[in-house]
Amino acid sequence: MCGIIGFTGYKPAQDILLDGLQRLEYRGYDSAGIAFFKDNSGHVSVRKTAGKVNDLRAICDEENTSSTGIGHTRWATHGGVTNANAHPHKFGEVTLIHNGIIENYHELIEKYDLKGKLKSDTDTEVAAAVISCNYSGDPVSAIRAAVSELKGSFAFCILFKNHPGEIYAVRNVSPMVATHTDDHGSFIASDLTAFIEYSNSYFVVPEYHIMTMTDGGIKLEDMEGNDVAPQYMTVDWDVSTAQKGGYPHFMIKEIHEQPQALSDTMGPRIKDLLPDFEEDGIPDSLFEGVKDITVIACGTAMYAGNVGRTLIQNKFGIPVTIAIASEFRYERPTISSDTLVIVCSQSGETIDTLEALRLAGKYTDRTLAVVNVKGSSIARESNYVLYTHAGPEIAVASTKAYSVQVAAMYLIGCKLGLVLGRATEAEVREFISGLKNIPSLIEEVLKMEERIKGLANRMVNTKDAFYIGRGLDYTLSMEGALKLKEISYIHSEAYAAGELKHGTISLITDGTPVIAIATQQNVYSKVISNIREVKARGAYVLLISKDKEITDETVCDEHISIPDISDELTIFESIIILQILAYYTSVGKGIDPDQPRNLAKSVTVE
Ligand code: AGP
Repeated sequence: MCGIIGFTGYKPAQDILLDGLQRLEYRGYDSAGIAFFKDNSGHVSVRKTAGKVNDLRAICDEENTSSTGIGHTRWATHGGVTNANAHPHKFGEVTLIHNGIIENYHELIEKYDLKGKLKSDTDTEVAAAVISCNYSGDPVSAIRAAVSELKGSFAFCILFKNHPGEIYAVRNVSPMVATHTDDHGSFIASDLTAFIEYSNSYFVVPEYHIMTMTDGGIKLEDMEGNDVAPQYMTVDWDVSTAQKGGYPHFMIKEIHEQPQALSDTMGPRIKDLLPDFEEDGIPDSLFEGVKDITVIACGTAMYAGNVGRTLIQNKFGIPVTIAIASEFRYERPTISSDTLVIVCSQSGETIDTLEALRLAGKYTDRTLAVVNVKGSSIARESNYVLYTHAGPEIAVASTKAYSVQVAAMYLIGCKLGLVLGRATEAEVREFISGLKNIPSLIEEVLKMEERIKGLANRMVNTKDAFYIGRGLDYTLSMEGALKLKEISYIHSEAYAAGELKHGTISLITDGTPVIAIATQQNVYSKVISNIREVKARGAYVLLISKDKEITDETVCDEHISIPDISDELTIFESIIILQILAYYTSVGKGIDPDQPRNLAKSVTVE
């Protein structure tokens, strides 16, 4: 995701834009730029650079008196980290900044014959071109025409040459808020962080409404041109709280960002309900002839990879090995040139994973990275990269990165299934249509937050906790246990439900919390039996399942029912519960979940 800001008013815009961008850097920080009406004339000037907002500040003119401008800090999705790819982008009479992903930009390049006319590799410049090609003097008409052709998520701030003092805006999915004050003028930004020092009242820009901002006020109209009154609200946040979008911690904010992160990650890779990696430059030839797969990662990324392993092996019958990166490096590799090596990493800088990738690269040129940070070391050293589009993940405890990594693994599995003839198009379409529903189902699960918060109170004083499940639920329980232990310091262990009785069940005493996940119908009754075994020994059982309700008190003490969906997809719902449970347990213990002791966001030491 990226940070955007705009201002037009009664004072110089430049410092408002730069200071606002500084507060939005948590949304992305690999390049930054501003555009403004030079000397308040009709000419639009641009200053932009790879690097942080401070690097942008260094190339700006301190004497810039322009009172209208827009600013952007980038989290690269399309196109590398370069000056040319930095926003704002100018095409013809149009200069714009963008947060989001235009999924059909390749088609638009063809339709508007833009080949050879673009100066960057970004989808954003294509959007500027489409608006420019539809512009014949009226900005609102041009925006309306262009928006009807764009597919994907966007929040645009737009300047038109010879329209000094005016900022135009429109959004779909990507966030954008705005306000007007009589003292200062009109503000717009990705979130309130950027202008909270000027106003704590704002409104959310409604989707598919075109906004015209001037120093004197804001005009909002729907796509039919009807005026719409902005719905203002006020907050009592301070600046640092606002940086978290009103959430008390980045972790809970990022938990709530998962629907958008999944939409942004899956959207550009699904065409006609089939996996499509063309825009990622990943050819089908990478998957042709693959005999086996090795997934290499650490921590949460490894647990996400293990979910992918389970699905790919069970659904498509392809042998998959999961390797802990720090172990893989010292084992005798069993990789051949027909092995697809998938390397998972949120940061793309984890040294254990990077070194394991380098070792794997000696045996195969089929290395595919699933990485969240564009241009990171692992991304650059892999043969191919499938970027996840979760946006910056600030909290040390990984949440949205896990979900998008699993989604990426699922799409890779579908592509492998098709290329290797292990699945028909109809089977894959049915699976992917379920996958596309996940963001809305996660929204349903997020509504259970208060209930889960209450259940976390039961965990706060415990010393040990166990997570059990079978199949995909077992792989999921590994991540659940890690979340709890790393931010609450409670000793948590994930166990295959069927394995408990082979020793570990001796640790179950009166009141020991056991979080049981039983969503896989083929082993449901077995898991229920395993739950009874621990219940009989005094365990306090929290059960997550698709059952509408559990009336038999011998099964569990608390039950959370998740929305019904195919067994292969329940992990996307269950993980939300486990993340929220861990978060509120940590907070209940007075720990800062964003920065737990002893940990770092990216482990660049071996
Ligand atoms: C997860 O919550 C932890 N922060 C940690 O396990 C992390 O997943 C691991 O260090 C791997 O990081 P990466 O995804 O950036 O490679």
